[in-house]
Amino acid sequence: MLRHHFQSYLDGVRREGRYRIFADLERDAARPPYARWRDGSNCRDVVVWCSNDYLGMGRHPLVIDAMVKTAQRTGTGAGGTRNISGNSHAVITLEAELADLHRKDAALVFSSGYVANEAALGTIGRLLPDCLILSDERNHASMIAGIRASGADKQIFRHNDLDHLETMLRHAGHFRPKVIAFESLYSMDGDIAPISRICDLAEKFGAITYLDEVHAVGLYGARGAGIAERDGVMDRVDVIEGTGERLRRCRRLYCSRRGDLRHDPVRGAELHLHHRNATGSGGRRDTERRASQELRRCAHRPLASGRQDAPGIAQCRNSDDVFGLAHHSGPGRRS
Ligand SMILES: Cc1ncc(COP(=O)(O)O)c(C=O)c1O
Repeated sequence: MLRHHFQSYLDGVRREGRYRIFADLERDAARPPYARWRDGSNCRDVVVWCSNDYLGMGRHPLVIDAMVKTAQRTGTGAGGTRNISGNSHAVITLEAELADLHRKDAALVFSSGYVANEAALGTIGRLLPDCLILSDERNHASMIAGIRASGADKQIFRHNDLDHLETMLRHAGHFRPKVIAFESLYSMDGDIAPISRICDLAEKFGAITYLDEVHAVGLYGARGAGIAERDGVMDRVDVIEGTGERLRRCRRLYCSRRGDLRHDPVRGAELHLHHRNATGSGGRRDTERRASQELRRCAHRPLASGRQDAPGIAQCRNSDDVFGLAHHSGPGRRS
């Protein structure tokens, strides 16, 4: 009965042309972007133009060497979440390096970009009472998942349309907690958000800014921190989410935040949400109390899914190794 149910569902998916068959690929580190493609008994070389390894750093000798040496020194796998088996020293070093890269107080590494967006937006939206999240219509699915998970109200503004965004902000009123969620570089169209003008609006209406720099980290800005760095507005953005994936094809995602979002899920510490008028001065104490209770409850949730077992950039010997690699990537960088 159940089998029949799933079978007919799959038949429907096939009929609609939505059944996905993933390519069986083996990348060739010596000849990027070539890979061997297998299909049954057939095997041939193909060029992978749609990889996210924009700079080909996933096969860079420095990256491979750092990963091999670290695996030899510390072994592979974390053996559990941070809750269970402790925090990896390499991850702690990486978080400090990422916070410095984005000029933020702290950073938190997750297992993927998807998880970071889902956990961070989900948590922020849930912690702010009566929160309204204003989301660009072309935001990535992971941001949408986070917004949905937060349970907060959501309004979608037309892509990069500041007039539309301003209308929504004005309508929400100054005292309602608001989060503007957007990307810096939209990968499907290649267009760039007017970050500075979005920050102007955020400041005018007392909103928090949440910026996904996934497609820009490593490629833009003097130190490769992304479009916000290139535009000189990094300090005006509250939360920046990025990834080592595009930079080095290493599966680590992080989220860095400014001092007024003092949120430390790793250690279950206090959260102080006193973002410019966002909660109003009368409600601030109450908000902080509720936020810290909420955080204690969900403190380790992102990490339960974000295990530390992927080798990733955490394999590098020290922080210079981790982001020193970014500085080797000069030729590919646009700023
Ligand atoms: C804008 C954006 N954010 C987040 C993600 C998720 O990143 P990841 O592939 O590391 O899960 C993607 C994935 O392509 C993305 O395009």
